[in-house]
Amino acid sequence: MQVTITRLGHQGDGIAEGPIYVPGALPGEVVEGQLSGDVLTAPRIVTPVAARVRPPCPHARACGGCALQHAEDAFVAAWKTEITRAALAAQGIEARLRPIVTSPARSRRRAVLAGKRTKKGVIVGFHGRASDTVVPIPDCHLLHPDLMALLPPLEEVTALAGSRKGALAITVTRSLAGADVAVSGGKALDLDLRMALAALADRHRFARLSWEDEVIAQAAPPEQALGAARVAPPPGAFLQATEAGEAALISAVSETISSAKQVVDLFAGCGTFTLPAASGADVHAVESSAAMLAALDRGWRNAAGLHRVTTEARDLFRRPLMAEELARFDAAIIDPPRAGAQAQVAELARAQLPVIAAVSCNPATFARDARDLIAAGYRLDWVQPIDQFRWSPHVELAARFSRAAA
Ligand SMILES: C[S@@+](CC[C@H](N)C(=O)[O-])C[C@H]1O[C@@H](n2cnc3c(N)ncnc32)[C@H](O)[C@@H]1O
Repeated sequence: MQVTITRLGHQGDGIAEGPIYVPGALPGEVVEGQLSGDVLTAPRIVTPVAARVRPPCPHARACGGCALQHAEDAFVAAWKTEITRAALAAQGIEARLRPIVTSPARSRRRAVLAGKRTKKGVIVGFHGRASDTVVPIPDCHLLHPDLMALLPPLEEVTALAGSRKGALAITVTRSLAGADVAVSGGKALDLDLRMALAALADRHRFARLSWEDEVIAQAAPPEQALGAARVAPPPGAFLQATEAGEAALISAVSETISSAKQVVDLFAGCGTFTLPAASGADVHAVESSAAMLAALDRGWRNAAGLHRVTTEARDLFRRPLMAEELARFDAAIIDPPRAGAQAQVAELARAQLPVIAAVSCNPATFARDARDLIAAGYRLDWVQPIDQFRWSPHVELAARFSRAAA
């Protein structure tokens, strides 16, 4: 059958009337294929649109890492901007959107790879599109070259400790001291395996190798530069995916809080925003992970010339900072997980702070939280879409809220 694609879905797949889902198709294209349930299988593009390009990466068809390599950059940028605009419009919000900032190819400094043993040997790569298979990625266009260089040693790790049943989840992070590798889903550690892995980490000069959160080899603390400080995050901890994305987020946040003297950073992680902000203000960092806050605190103590930084481990979903506790701050930074931060936003709404720098990895929950802040009298000054997950359907953003003049 033949269908015409009318729009892209949230996973980046083409959608025709029905709805019929057509992976790899773009709006306006006429596509031919076999209907299986609500998916058009083995699709053949009959009429391509001008936005279609040849995927730069040879693995694009099989690999699940990138959903949109067949579309030109300008199309993806416009689509992600439109997702942000539409999420806000669904909550009745019209906002000034700044031009999207997209991270360059080959710049991902953190990724979760899969490692699997097979009949023939081992594969380290990304999961295949909607499947359990692991696709090798020797010419990946996403990962930073330093992470690409890790593929052969990670194959050795998989040969030692992987299985043919499930895949290892291997979180790789580029640090100032070299590779920071955290593995889960592998064999239980016995003495022999522990020694073999430690020797492998040493041979390949990993900064750190962790197994199910236990550090089994560390040549040097795997530090990240956060503002004027250096922080060694706990194994597998959250870190912004690219340096360019992190810089764009920090720049938007810094601009928003530039005149504040007392700042609270909510969902602070290891201090991505806390430590740059501490060059101009006292900052109170709040976050549920005590280990991340300990790393942040150590980084602050070893840095020179920063204002005071305090930390508080707290579940902000169950126990948000109350409006009375927020009253002593003149700016808030908030960067919640995908679910958003409804309870904390309700308290920010009551607190009526002069400015809020909001960061989000989910435009839909951001728009819901923005609606609540606007209803409480805040003004949404601008939204900065940011694309750290190039060629994927993810969209991130930073935004500035200020108290509307009475
Ligand atoms: C999107 S990350 C942002 C971290 C940091 N702002 C950064 O940019 O590196 C969200 C953070 O929220 C923390 N978190 C998740 N659930 C939480 C909760 N219920 N209360 C407090 N923090 C939470 C996570 O540990 C994570 O560090």
